[in-house]
Formats: sequence, structure tokens, C-alpha cells
Amino acid sequence: ALVRSFKFELINSLHTRLCCNKTMLTINGQSPGPTIYARRGDLVIVDIVNRADQNITIHWHGVKMPRYPWSDGTNFVTQCPILSGKRFRQRVILSDEEGTLWWHAHNDWSRNSVYGAIVILPPKGETYPFPKPHAHHPILIGEWWKADVQQVMEEFLKNGGDPQMSNAYLINGQPGDLYQCSTQDIYKLQVEFGKTYLIKLVNAVMDNIMFFKIGSHKFTVVGTDGAYTKPMQTDCVAISPGQTIDLLLEANQPPSHYYMAARVYASGGDFVTIPTTAIIEYVGNYTPPPSPLLPFFPQVNDSATSMNFTNQLRSLVNGVNVPKKVTRKLFFTLSMNRRLCLESYCLRATRLASSVNNVSMLLPGVDILQAYYRGISGVYTTDFPDFPPSAFDYTKDAMLEESSATRLGTAVSVLEYNSTVEVVFQGTNIAGGVEHPMHLHGYSFYVVGSGLGNFDGIRDPPNYNLIDPPLMENIVVPRNGWISIRFKANNPGVWYMHCHFERHQSWGMKMVFIVEDGEQPHEKMLPPPPDMPGCDAPPPQLLF
Ligand code: C2O
Ligand code: CU
Repeated sequence: ALVRSFKFELINSLHTRLCCNKTMLTINGQSPGPTIYARRGDLVIVDIVNRADQNITIHWHGVKMPRYPWSDGTNFVTQCPILSGKRFRQRVILSDEEGTLWWHAHNDWSRNSVYGAIVILPPKGETYPFPKPHAHHPILIGEWWKADVQQVMEEFLKNGGDPQMSNAYLINGQPGDLYQCSTQDIYKLQVEFGKTYLIKLVNAVMDNIMFFKIGSHKFTVVGTDGAYTKPMQTDCVAISPGQTIDLLLEANQPPSHYYMAARVYASGGDFVTIPTTAIIEYVGNYTPPPSPLLPFFPQVNDSATSMNFTNQLRSLVNGVNVPKKVTRKLFFTLSMNRRLCLESYCLRATRLASSVNNVSMLLPGVDILQAYYRGISGVYTTDFPDFPPSAFDYTKDAMLEESSATRLGTAVSVLEYNSTVEVVFQGTNIAGGVEHPMHLHGYSFYVVGSGLGNFDGIRDPPNYNLIDPPLMENIVVPRNGWISIRFKANNPGVWYMHCHFERHQSWGMKMVFIVEDGEQPHEKMLPPPPDMPGCDAPPPQLLF
């Protein structure tokens, strides 16, 4: 294993999309920012230098960071922000991850422009579990607002309703040629006939699952979230925010230009439905069509297609190490809520909130990791409930408004070292049902079961897949449905879990696990680095 070093300078730089100039937050002037290339097991050292006028934290999404939450980069959970003018050296400790992961800002909504891919190759001398591809290409799906996203967020927090939607989706920073005033702003990927390419797909958009297709080509999914899967042939991917997918594309069609495109999936709400496009350009002598044929996308609200894709993912090998015996059973309801507006600037009588087990999490003013490590009291409570306060018919059409009041707090759930944990996520229909792409830091988990409607603790567990469930760190809890995951709590530290829809996270759909140290020295959290950012930033605003 090698040590690889990178320097990430956070700067404000000027960019033009859709004929609109805008200053935005970037790493080294680029969005997406630099790709981190490494091999499995490497240590990646990234020096973050904040030369912008805003605070920042950077998270290595999907990197488990064994025993070292100090570099996880989660604002007010594992660190206080890196203030303007300050720097922080982060140790990105790769262990068993291989495939594609990504990094992104993890404070406010700055991740809309501060993100990039992490490509993890097999160690030297080891091979892929499939024929070696000719080349690999990160493809990041992003999003573009004409407005300043910081302002969009502040408006959203004040108004209590849905945020202003973005103006375009992007592939590798470019909207593609279907939006107004963007015919030239299109990403191009050159391929040679007969060769196979490994596409490293990342969904970096803020609030949507995306469908991804390539004109006239089928492809083979071979991995997700930094782990390999059984090969799966398809012509359509549904990828949730935070998720990554590795797919093999064989350039086997008549040499020409083809679209590679992504379009929004949404079970409700108002989002731009124009696909973002990129071009796959075969090398050779031919006359390309004036415009390639747009692949035929599923309906914007086609939840079956979106769900079926995820349901088909399987671990590469059978007999994976999924915990068979569970020592800690958790049942987490995920709800959209309404709550009374108490702040003076509220314009409406009620506003939206969201919760896990009816707790809407508030970020503290000192990070939870530091408070835990140094024994600072009054920062969090340890009473995060294992079960929701009351059991009801979670997916009934409209739940009573009374059930919708949430508790505001900073409650953590404490897990014993090496406990085997099962979490059942139950979607509810309190103030309307919607999917929730749930993401856990510090771990990968096996997705052992899923279904529509209410989870049934007697009927459903016998149908769990304990043979080859996919290993993931993001999973979409279906609208009005449930998901069951299992993991072994063998990574001590403070680990965030949240919905990767940015608006839901801001409304409170997030919680924190503290995984205790084990007995042995190698089962304990490592000490913090000397340059841990201090907590002299203003405490976060009430995010409601
Ligand atoms: Cu992709 Cu908590 O993050
Ligand atoms: Cu959500």
C-alpha cells in the first residue's frame, strides 16, 4: 500500500453555464473537483486549504476510516468547520473498499459544487473480477442553480416549504445540449470500437434519484458503493444521491455519436425533467448524425423501475459475512412532518420538518466526536430511541397531524463494540410519503430485505437474503415501504446517518451512532491529529 498526497484549495471561482455567470465554491477552481486515484488499502493524505470566504468540511463518502472518525469531515458531528483562511490535513484511510466512492463538502449545501470522484483500483498484482477494461472514466451527475445556492438554502430555511429547484442537471460539470443556451457545454467521451470501458458513475445531485442510460448500448453493472456485485446486464440504472455504480460499457455499436444521459426520477415535487446529456464519440471516419437519438427514459415517477434496479443488486460472492444473529435490533421510522413555526421570521403557520423515530436532529455548536472524546457534557444526549414512540399503520394514506409533531434534539444511539446490528427503516406517510436514500458513515452494511407497506416482524425476516445481499452504504427506503440492513459495529467512533436528500437532512432526518471502544488496543479509536479545527465558528443556525 502507498501513501498518496493531494492538495485541495477551496476557492471561489467564476463559471458560466446556461449563459449565466456565477461565482461558486470549488476545489482548485474545478467542479467536479479533482479525482482521487488510489489502490485498495492505500493511505490518502489531503491537505485542505480554505481560501474562500465560507466555512467548509470535506467528507470521504463511503470510506470507512477504521478507528479514525477524525477525518470523516462531518460538520458538527466529527469536526468543527475549517474556517476561512485555515487548513486541515485529512487522512483518508482506505481499507477494503474497491471500485468507486466520492468526496463532497459536508456543511450547509456547499456539496452542490464541492465534490469529486474517488477511484480505487485493485492493489498492484491483483486483477478485477472481470476482464481488464481498456480505460476507466468517472462520470459524475451533478446539478446547477442559476442562483447562489447558499441563498437558495437560506430562503428554504426561512420559508418552511420546498426549496427552489435547480435549473439543470450536469454530467461532469456540463448540462449538455438539451437545455437552453448550452449546446456547446457538453461532456464528450471517446471510445474505440471493440474496446470495453469501466464507467464510474456517481450521483452527486442534491435531492433526486436519477435514471441513467446510454443510447443503443446495453451495459453491465459490476459494482456499487465501493464493492463488487454479481454482473448484471441492463440498459437503465437508477442511482440515488450518494450512491456510486461501476459499469462496463462495450463499444460494440456502429461507430457514431451516442448520448449518455441522466434524467430525474421523483415520486412528487417539481424538478427539471430535461435530461442532462453527454456524448459517446467513436473514433474513426464517419459522418455523425446532427444529433444522436435520445434514449427512451422511464416516466419521471416510475418507482417500480427505480426500485427494481436496486432490488437486483447482489454481492459478487455467495456466503458473505452477514451477521446471522442480531444482538441489537433497531426500528427507525422515517417521516416527513409538519411542525409549528416558532421563529419570528416564519411566514406560515406550519412548516415542514423530517425525522427519524420522531426526533428531528439539531446540530450542536461543538462537534459530537470531540464532546465524546473529551467528555464535554451538555452537547448531546444518549437517549435516541430504538423504536418509534408509538406503533401505527405507517403507510396509511394520510397520518393524523397529531402524530406529526417531532421532538427537536441532539440524541445519539450508543452501540456496543462488536454488537451485530439490524436496522429496519420504515417509511411513513405522516405528511406525505417519499423515498429516503439513507446513508451511514463509517460502515458498509448488507441490505438483507425490503418491501412495500408496513414491515412485519414475523412474516418478513424469514425471507431475508443472508447469502448474497449487496454491501452498500446508501440505500433507498422505498416510498411507503421498508428496508432492512445489518452490520457489525466493529468500527469505534462517532458516525453520522442521514437521508442523502439535502432538503430532508436540513429538516432533521439525521442521527448519530456512537460505537464504543472494544477491550483490545486495536479495537479503540485513535487519538485526534494536532490540527483538528477548533470550535470557534458560530454555532449552526436552527435548520428549520
Ligand atoms: Cu455523502 Cu453524510 O454524506
Ligand atoms: Cu429523505
